[in-house]
Amino acid sequence: MTAKNCSEDIKQPSQEIALMHMIHGSRITQLIYVAAKLKIADLLQDGPKNSEELARTVDAHPRALFRLLRALASVGIFCENEAGCFQLTPLAKHLQTGIPGSLAAYAIMVGEPWSWRVEGELLYSVRTGKPAFTHALGMDVHEYLNNDAEAAKQFNEAMTSFSGHELAPVVTAYDFSQFKTIIDVGGGHGAMLAEILKTYPGLRGKVFDLRAVDQAARSILDKQGVTDRCELINGDFFKSIPGGGDAYILKRVLHDWDDEQAVAILKSCHRAMAGSGRLLIIERVIPPGNEPDFGKLVDISMLTLSGGLERSRSEFKAILDRGGFELADIIPTQCPLSLIEARPV
Ligand SMILES: C[S@@+](CC[C@H](N)C(=O)[O-])C[C@H]1O[C@@H](n2cnc3c(N)ncnc32)[C@H](O)[C@@H]1O
Repeated sequence: MTAKNCSEDIKQPSQEIALMHMIHGSRITQLIYVAAKLKIADLLQDGPKNSEELARTVDAHPRALFRLLRALASVGIFCENEAGCFQLTPLAKHLQTGIPGSLAAYAIMVGEPWSWRVEGELLYSVRTGKPAFTHALGMDVHEYLNNDAEAAKQFNEAMTSFSGHELAPVVTAYDFSQFKTIIDVGGGHGAMLAEILKTYPGLRGKVFDLRAVDQAARSILDKQGVTDRCELINGDFFKSIPGGGDAYILKRVLHDWDDEQAVAILKSCHRAMAGSGRLLIIERVIPPGNEPDFGKLVDISMLTLSGGLERSRSEFKAILDRGGFELADIIPTQCPLSLIEARPV
């Protein structure tokens, strides 16, 4: 069965239509969210299905589900074929669960009512510079996730889904063999360190996080076969960070915090490093000027979620200077993250 309209070029919209699409961007977020929540892409893995059949399976209103899928097909997510059945498209494939490159968990987190309420308060963040999260939900993001197991699960699954693609590009972009002991500060479940230790059998490491010592971290280390070379340490990086490393990693940690707090974390690292070793910050680096960069949109999420920010080269240099470090190099990787190498001064 050939797909109708699946490969036709989309005509260049007028400026007004282009803006209308942008104005309705939030509609598309919700369309994708509902499709992900109903696991429509999983149901189409074995071939096209019509909306009635899909509606019976997912317990939805048949006509409303058809309209959802038709709207998604209009932006290239799913496609209705000549038989009136919907099928996967290259974009829709990423809404399947359990596949490399899945964005299903991320789509669900972004569209969930709690996340939606925060995004709806962006004006508050722009007026005050403060996180809309606290304004909308009455507590900060860490407290909220600690109190709501379902939201925490969605958040962690979303983070894991895209951080999985960051590991290999980071490991291949840098020579970690020069180190003996690496400490991953705010290392979460230890996926980054596990990947490094797996690649470099001579290295040892420590994952340091508020909640490092848990089953998820242990199972990641076990899976990579590095448990005997990696310690899990619980602690607060604002108070103290374990010494004894010759490299300290901060991956996607500093962007959660404003400059004052980021400098406090850097100073903690500086104390732990006692004047030697390397600090490796793994983050997006926002390019100058108007060029399109997804990081500029992620930056707005950091503003509303935690009051953090994605930083440019000069902004990293400024916080590193204040934290007692010299910026040595910025190494791009094959993923959106760069490796920012710094030395204590
Ligand atoms: C955005 S996650 C990044 C996790 C991991 N580095 C990664 O790239 O997937 C930020 C991490 O910082 C940890 N964290 C937050 N506050 C902390 C604190 N005060 N001390 C230690 N870890 C903290 C969180 O628990 C979380 O694992």
